[in-house]
Amino acid sequence: MGSFGMLARRVVETEMPVIVQIQQLIRGAKNAVSLAQGVVHWKPPEQALDKVKKLVEEPSVSCYGADEGLPELREALTRKLRQENNLNKSSVMVTAGANQAFVNLVLTLCDAGDSVVMFAPYYFNAYMSFQMTGVTKILVGPSNPETLYPDADWLEKTLLETNPVPKLVSVVNPGNPSGTYIPEPLLKRISDICKNAGCRLFVDNTYEYFMYDGLEHSCLEGDHIVNIFSFSKAYGMASWICNLFSALNMILYGLMQIAYPTEVEGLATQLLKVQDNIPICASLISQRLALHSLEVGPEWVQERVKDLVKNREIVIEALSPLGEGSVQGGEGAIYLWATLPGKYTDDFKVVHWLAHRHGVVMIPGSACGCPGHLRVSFGGLMENDCRAAADRLKRGLEELVKHGLVQ
Ligand SMILES: Cc1ncc(COP(=O)(O)O)c(C=O)c1O
Repeated sequence: MGSFGMLARRVVETEMPVIVQIQQLIRGAKNAVSLAQGVVHWKPPEQALDKVKKLVEEPSVSCYGADEGLPELREALTRKLRQENNLNKSSVMVTAGANQAFVNLVLTLCDAGDSVVMFAPYYFNAYMSFQMTGVTKILVGPSNPETLYPDADWLEKTLLETNPVPKLVSVVNPGNPSGTYIPEPLLKRISDICKNAGCRLFVDNTYEYFMYDGLEHSCLEGDHIVNIFSFSKAYGMASWICNLFSALNMILYGLMQIAYPTEVEGLATQLLKVQDNIPICASLISQRLALHSLEVGPEWVQERVKDLVKNREIVIEALSPLGEGSVQGGEGAIYLWATLPGKYTDDFKVVHWLAHRHGVVMIPGSACGCPGHLRVSFGGLMENDCRAAADRLKRGLEELVKHGLVQ
């Protein structure tokens, strides 16, 4: 292991974050534009920012708050969950980002050596969260090749045949990296399979508002289900995580159901140990911003999401040189999933080539467990900039298909 000898094997053996590699690529390529990172192009609501500006001088926002979150925010979120998500028995904990919520949960529920389930293409950060906490038996299931929906038949068989039963199954709805949503009957079936096997289900609802073409996002509730949400995309709060403050999210756990009452109650208590040792509490000023953003309401978010449909069209057109059937997903979230011509299994190479020769950057599918693909994000640029990036992408793909990776 050489110079790695002093480092934890858990971390050394964790994948390198693809986002860090892509940020380096963008810095190294001249004037490259990004269709890579999963971000939106808007900032938080003006009204909410104005209220928070006035709070900056208040001593209370510089103190620690309750570990589980500001009581007013938790109350507002509980109401929102009832009204919008039909989650009536869930409690809320506020964390510094959905990624932190995920790590908190894995630390609380899994031991090193446990097995867990994901579906390819998977969300790379969730995969890394398992690896870096010592959960290395990651069973990666297939998705339907046509729809990219998680394969529930495979799940049923795998949970029956794996002993001990995997601790949890993780899905993202709608998906990162594919943008595919999980229709309610399928989500229900996945949930029933998990419940019957005695396994938990994590549902990451980060993109709950990002649904297109009249499709609707839905949530399920149950002792065995944990729902994760995020303010980062919907309310444009992503950089509040990096800039001193944290974007806020919540993790939810059913409290009063009869199947596992003591264990479920235990979950709340155990989660606080992890929370108290990582952020203690999510930044109070960010929690206030989240609270005031919630007051502005989901219509504010939906208004912005509606306009992303144009970006999606522009990017689909740019991907057309790849040929019919090579673009999938995009019913939700901010992503399209593209298949490269068969010989380009080394998608990192294609991504580097597109960045340096054509000035446009995407995420290679191999970071999501599927070599030979690209994840293209259409949320981060305003329409005109998106069009300019898409022109570069189209020219690049035309050249790739006709002439290969010419230098
Ligand atoms: C599915 C999914 N979950 C979680 C996150 C991270 O969210 P947060 O900024 O709230 O940590 C992202 C960000 O891209 C995501 O796509």
